[in-house]
Amino acid sequence: VAGVATVVLLTAACGALPGSVTSVDAVTFDQELAIPPLAESEVVDGVRTFSLTAQEGTTSFAPATERGTQTETWGFDGAYLGPTLRAERGERVAVDVANELDETTSVHWHGMHLPPAMDGGPHQEIEPGGTWRPTWEVDQPGATLWYHPHPHGETEEHVYRGLAGMFILDDDATRAADLPSGYGVDDVPVIVQDKVFDDAGQLDLTDDGGEPGTLGGVVMANGTVGAYHEVTTERVRLRLLNGSTARTYTFGFPDRSFDLVASDGGLLEAPLERDQVRLAPGERAEIVVTMAAGETTRLASTETDLGSVAVPFAMGGNDAFDVLELRAADELTPSPEPAWEPSQHADGDALDAADATVTRTFELDERRINGERMDPGRIDEVATVGDTEIWEVRSTVPMPHSFHVHDVQFRVLSIDGGPPPEELVGRKDTVYLEPRRTYRLLMRFEDYSDDAVPYMYHCHMLRHEDEGMMGQFVVVEPGSDATPGPLQGAAG
Ligand code: C2O
Ligand code: CU
Repeated sequence: VAGVATVVLLTAACGALPGSVTSVDAVTFDQELAIPPLAESEVVDGVRTFSLTAQEGTTSFAPATERGTQTETWGFDGAYLGPTLRAERGERVAVDVANELDETTSVHWHGMHLPPAMDGGPHQEIEPGGTWRPTWEVDQPGATLWYHPHPHGETEEHVYRGLAGMFILDDDATRAADLPSGYGVDDVPVIVQDKVFDDAGQLDLTDDGGEPGTLGGVVMANGTVGAYHEVTTERVRLRLLNGSTARTYTFGFPDRSFDLVASDGGLLEAPLERDQVRLAPGERAEIVVTMAAGETTRLASTETDLGSVAVPFAMGGNDAFDVLELRAADELTPSPEPAWEPSQHADGDALDAADATVTRTFELDERRINGERMDPGRIDEVATVGDTEIWEVRSTVPMPHSFHVHDVQFRVLSIDGGPPPEELVGRKDTVYLEPRRTYRLLMRFEDYSDDAVPYMYHCHMLRHEDEGMMGQFVVVEPGSDATPGPLQGAAG
């Protein structure tokens, strides 16, 4: 699989004729992988302060589009995607967000434990020309998080146009770990997205009624189609983020296994050797790949096993794509074997199912959760700060979902009563729901309460979210008389 190999781009689920092949193209992997720049920050009065501006721009997606074609895109501080924010556990951070778009947007810190008014969901919208300055203390293990807009009903479009970026958290454990850590060199962000382009080379957000939303025949990493990365070390760490709006991927390599080292919320107990890792929209995984001098391999997504139930329509899993070529130099700098002290990670926020005092049930059909569509004026659940809870979540239809809860990292306790696979044992904020299986998630709400500002839970297949598959919960102090129902002070 050297540089001459090609990948066939198929537009299977979203062409003019449903199911037909509308574009077949040979892509050579000859574009250097774009690395999102690290965001600059300034420490002002002890607060690490970033700024982000949502703006319009144009981007070349050659070779998916003709060379010379400029595609209209949106980005933070640039034309497409945004810089990588990076902060340390224990730091107070602030972000000055400016909206230079013609539309209202918001910026949500996906995976972050923070007060609900700082969360960036649909209740913290930023008007065109407006600014917003959330601030919070980073108080969770080192992890690969991300940020993206969350405006009511418009999240799919805003993310699809390009608004997204990584937010890396570091802590003593991640710093001391034997893991590649040279940003953009051997510690590489890889934001994977799929797109459809129209004949003019513009982004097409096709709504052909297909499930679970727009599935593109072009797959890109950090906005680069046909990307390669030069590897100069024996091992390279890829921080994989499924930043797609609908597609689920199963990542792996044709010729080697890898070490899975972290999931959504940070390091696993120990590295897990794997051939594949499945990521639904919103999920992350950190993997470490070992290379020999002079060789080339490709990160690819193979057909996704959608779960135990046959799905009678295109679900975005059954396409195979090459994503990123890794080219090892003729001499490689030695890298240590991935390792870290498990005790460094057991940091007091371990969850114990025996502490659970509340169990809630969430049944997801095509677009509703427990029979309801999202209403920003309605509180669906009231949780109490300090409580440990079990959420039983199930897709009741032959359709998978990607279930995400704001503010917390949860643990997958069981799937249909059995133990989850090892790769789901770590800290998670988003989990792929195979159809008609019951996932028990263990979580605890800590530190922040506010009976007037809700957090969200929703499907991260963004058309599902926008079309109503989302609910709201508040976290209140013990003894509060808050109940589900109309949101206090909501405009309606
Ligand atoms: Cu990544 Cu509520 O979203
Ligand atoms: Cu869904």
